[in-house]
Amino acid sequence: MSDLASIPARPWPCSARAPGKCILFGEHAVVRGAPELALAIDLRTQVIARPAPRLRLNADPDAAGHNPYLRAALAVDGATTPPLDIRSVSRVPRSAGLGSSAAFVAALCASLAAARGGIERADLAQRAFAVERAAQGVGSPGDTSTSVAGGYVSLNEPGSRGTPLWSVHAGDERWEVRREQDPGWVWVVAYSGIPRSTVEAVRAVGDRLERPDGPALLEEFRRVARQGIDAVGRGEREEVGRLLARNQELLREVGVSHPRLEALLEAAAPVAAGAKLTGAGRGGSIVVLPLPGREVELLRRLARAGAAAFAVRPAAGVELVDAEPLGDPEPRA
Ligand code: PMV
Repeated sequence: MSDLASIPARPWPCSARAPGKCILFGEHAVVRGAPELALAIDLRTQVIARPAPRLRLNADPDAAGHNPYLRAALAVDGATTPPLDIRSVSRVPRSAGLGSSAAFVAALCASLAAARGGIERADLAQRAFAVERAAQGVGSPGDTSTSVAGGYVSLNEPGSRGTPLWSVHAGDERWEVRREQDPGWVWVVAYSGIPRSTVEAVRAVGDRLERPDGPALLEEFRRVARQGIDAVGRGEREEVGRLLARNQELLREVGVSHPRLEALLEAAAPVAAGAKLTGAGRGGSIVVLPLPGREVELLRRLARAGAAAFAVRPAAGVELVDAEPLGDPEPRA
């Protein structure tokens, strides 16, 4: 996880893989400058890019034309990129709050940058965020920086015991990104099967925080995330569990929980140190810190409650890989 080497130059075809993420503390509030802690998880997306007569995504020219992330990445990369055949294979469920778009963007930008002479990781983090922002119009660089850096990543917490990685900006907004210590835990994420829109959820929370109690709520989000980052860094499982539960109360309060997520949290509770929704909410996924030794029972409970559940560990950030494992990108008859 400590490998923060730059992305080197490679000839075409170029391929990279990047991890999804789950947010442990601070989603939504991070958009307004509060701290966040995210974890890059070992569910990954691999992208392979090679020059071709015309632009295609997974063998489909229409999909390539309509994918806002691909369009934004090609626009940021510049007009000299040749038409490309792009293939993407992913184990990150889509629209699940697990960073599928950030993983696609990080792997795509790394592949394109490799073919153009390589890129420093800090510049790649900025570029991946610019692409995601251009495609979504809202949001923080938490997902993209976590996919680029790997491991435990905090935003906006300059007093943490972690170490600075880089800062990312958009206009006047600026986020400080840091590497936090790995307490060595296994986490469990569980997808409810209910897709949701990050953009709509972010807008709804923005409106909610305009109400008179908004500033006090935001302050409480800040406090919980700050203490959560500290408790994870110290490896204090019980305290982290308590703070996860408090963060979930706040997310409920701003209207982004969902009856299915509440049912999954209830199913997890007997074998969990703590749990909360992760990502934008209103559907999507939960993240659970299991009680030690109860991981398998937790996975069983969540599956019985109808979720797609995964035990996850910290993953390395985006990296170039051999272009071959995906095989021939031509569709087969
Ligand atoms: O659900 P996701 O993976 O899109 O995560 C969104 C996290 C938010 O804080 C709600 C938005 C953001 O960009 O930080």
